[in-house]
Amino acid sequence: MASAALILSLLIAVQLPYLRSLSLQSSSYSPLENQEKDNIGQLEEWISLNVKHYNRKRAASLKWMQESVRNRKQQVPSSSSLDPRLRNAELNKILISVNQEGIGNFKTIKEALASIPVYNKRRVILDIKPGVYSDPPRITGNDTAAAAGTDGRPLKTFQSATVSVDADYFVAINVIFENTAAHVVGSVGEQAVALRISGNKAAFYDCSFYGSQDTLYDHKGLHYFNNCFVQGSVDFIFGYGRSLYENCHLNSVAKKVASLTAQKRTNSSILSGFSFKNSTITGTGSVYLGRAWGDYSRVIFSYTYMDEIVLPLGWSDWGKTSRDSRVYYGEYRCSGPGANMTGRVPWARILTDEEAMPFIGTYYIDGNSWLIHP
Ligand SMILES: *[C@@H]1O[C@H](CO)[C@@H](O)[C@H](O)[C@H]1NC(C)=O
Ligand SMILES: *[C@@H]1O[C@H](CO)[C@@H](O)[C@H](O)[C@H]1NC(C)=O
Ligand SMILES: *[C@@H]1O[C@H](CO)[C@@H](O)[C@H](O)[C@H]1NC(C)=O
Ligand SMILES: *[C@@H]1O[C@H](CO)[C@@H](O)[C@H](O)[C@H]1NC(C)=O
Repeated sequence: MASAALILSLLIAVQLPYLRSLSLQSSSYSPLENQEKDNIGQLEEWISLNVKHYNRKRAASLKWMQESVRNRKQQVPSSSSLDPRLRNAELNKILISVNQEGIGNFKTIKEALASIPVYNKRRVILDIKPGVYSDPPRITGNDTAAAAGTDGRPLKTFQSATVSVDADYFVAINVIFENTAAHVVGSVGEQAVALRISGNKAAFYDCSFYGSQDTLYDHKGLHYFNNCFVQGSVDFIFGYGRSLYENCHLNSVAKKVASLTAQKRTNSSILSGFSFKNSTITGTGSVYLGRAWGDYSRVIFSYTYMDEIVLPLGWSDWGKTSRDSRVYYGEYRCSGPGANMTGRVPWARILTDEEAMPFIGTYYIDGNSWLIHP
């Protein structure tokens, strides 16, 4: 993951319909330096109106920023626990606006992305004005997509993503990621990813992910989702990320029996796993909370409301009983008709306070080193 750091914020509602991915070409910046400060000011204002707990998060963020500036002046190492790469990126941020009416820096997301060098090290904020964008933004900061391709994922699924993020420290706010390919029950090869996140330390605030089979490819790395909406039919949150989903809404559009998640964890020493906290499960069809993609699949639901679509069994070993003793499927203080533990598979865990603790805070994803406002 060496110097990969395309650092990006996609802002304001956009729709990105399914299209083939396109490689990003490197070229130099052409930011409008004079307008930058004004634009960033307006942006902060917009964020403050649209992001929950903005002031609290902002205060914490300012504290480390000031500390960073002070330390940089004094040429001493920062005592801040934040990643140095991220700190530098934040201190050198620029803003690029995308507006289809031609009054921004660029008319298309593709052009805006093309203006960012591949080995970018600054925070680049893409301020995307409302609209339906059909140019395919394959957002990449390094060649990790190629590396990931050898992981045994079906190449088809991997390449089907409307938006692919390979960069570290990616942030998206209020963006709709969509893959409109429909899934027909019983058919094969129709996995269609709306978003693939392979970059490390990525955060999504107030975003929506629409798809059917395999909507959100939570591929690998540490990820944070807050107040997001995820809709799909089969395995619609899948991958081997270590991710915290807080205040999210998972909506099934399954027609028959399906699974909300397919978490892939292949051995017990890997730290990956999905943790859903204070979330809501609704929709159609009958769903398992998760099915074991890897032998040591790990998924935790805490403080989550589960509608009656959740099957009493709760969890599936995907036909391999050897996995029953290996997976880690936990539930903690959940509510709703789907949260009734009476019919659960015997290997589902009702977590104690102590067992739940490691999964129910941003420390689960090492948030201290990278989660900044908003
Ligand atoms: C990322 O880019 C750097 C700089 O070219 C390279 O050294 C490194 O191997 C790349 N990492 C990956 C995972 O491709
Ligand atoms: C739980 O989620 C709901 C809905 O997103 C939100 O209104 C509420 O503030 C959340 N509670 C906590 C403690 O985060
Ligand atoms: C578990 O997986 C990691 C990462 O692939 C690997 O380094 C480690 O050797 C594996 N451990 C076992 C016991 O297989
Ligand atoms: C849970 O399910 C069992 C079996 O279906 C039922 O007897 C029990 O009343 C349910 N509990 C609650 C709290 O709904």
